[in-house]
Amino acid sequence: MEANMPKRKEPGKSLRIKVISMGNAEVGKSCIIKRYCEKRFVSKYLATIGIDYGVTKVQVRDREVKVNIFDMAGHPFFYEVRNEFYKDTQGAMLVFDVGQKDSFDALDAWLAEMKQELGPHGNMENIVFVVCANKIDCTKHRCVDESEGRLWAESKGFLYFETSAQTGEGINEMFQTFYVSIVDLCENGGKRPITNSSASFTKEQADTIRRIRNSKDSWDMLGVKPGASRDEVNKAYRKLAVLLHPDKCVAPGSEDAFKAVVNARTALLKNIK
Ligand code: GTP
Ligand code: MG
Repeated sequence: MEANMPKRKEPGKSLRIKVISMGNAEVGKSCIIKRYCEKRFVSKYLATIGIDYGVTKVQVRDREVKVNIFDMAGHPFFYEVRNEFYKDTQGAMLVFDVGQKDSFDALDAWLAEMKQELGPHGNMENIVFVVCANKIDCTKHRCVDESEGRLWAESKGFLYFETSAQTGEGINEMFQTFYVSIVDLCENGGKRPITNSSASFTKEQADTIRRIRNSKDSWDMLGVKPGASRDEVNKAYRKLAVLLHPDKCVAPGSEDAFKAVVNARTALLKNIK
């Protein structure tokens, strides 16, 4: 049996699973859990000290699932406390604040911390990850858009939800899908089922969309040197168009990336003799 498989797995019987929350301090991990379990929202920030533990029961198809939730403190100060709690986990919530780019960029470091704590024999492939893009009610301050978050999550085979612990938007849907996926994983012998989204676009497409988003000008966007010839611009454009054409590419953000490439080419050709 896989190391982090829950103990009982006969059909129709109860299951006991462990889930953890991860993400920078103040992104809303505790509030998301509170919104789901207690149907309420607390606007005052009460930092989690080390770790909070709670138990809840949910029904997934014919199974009663007992969920042990370990809500981690995001502050680096608590690393020594939370590092004990990564092992024997079936599901992990990765939370970021859509108004704090740092908290989105930090998700890779959270995965790295988990990997390190699980050690060389730990297997991240048999854990269900759900990314929560939280605080979507704060529209004014939003700086990580849905396609950017979704692209990061889905290119890793993770679930992705837009949530607000304040209004409750997305919270129930997120937990329901999360628990169903964990039960599916347990019934699938501990292997993460291949989701449509993770199988439907390539790493090259995902990396290209990210590169286009971060490009500094039209030359950079097309991946040619400033001062390149018409031929070079057209050649680079054709390659990107084949890779990102909305009929061919379903990666989140591909449509915007494609449009940006078309505009970049038009702008460059106007000025090249
Ligand atoms: P640590 O325990 O320190 O790691 O933080 P945390 O990630 O658990 O954050 P917590 O849930 O305590 O929330 C931090 C602050 O953000 C609090 O003031 C919450 O009221 C606020 N907050 C959480 N979720 C939302 C949300 O969806 N919308 C808004 N507007 N505020 C939120
Ligand atoms: Mg907390």
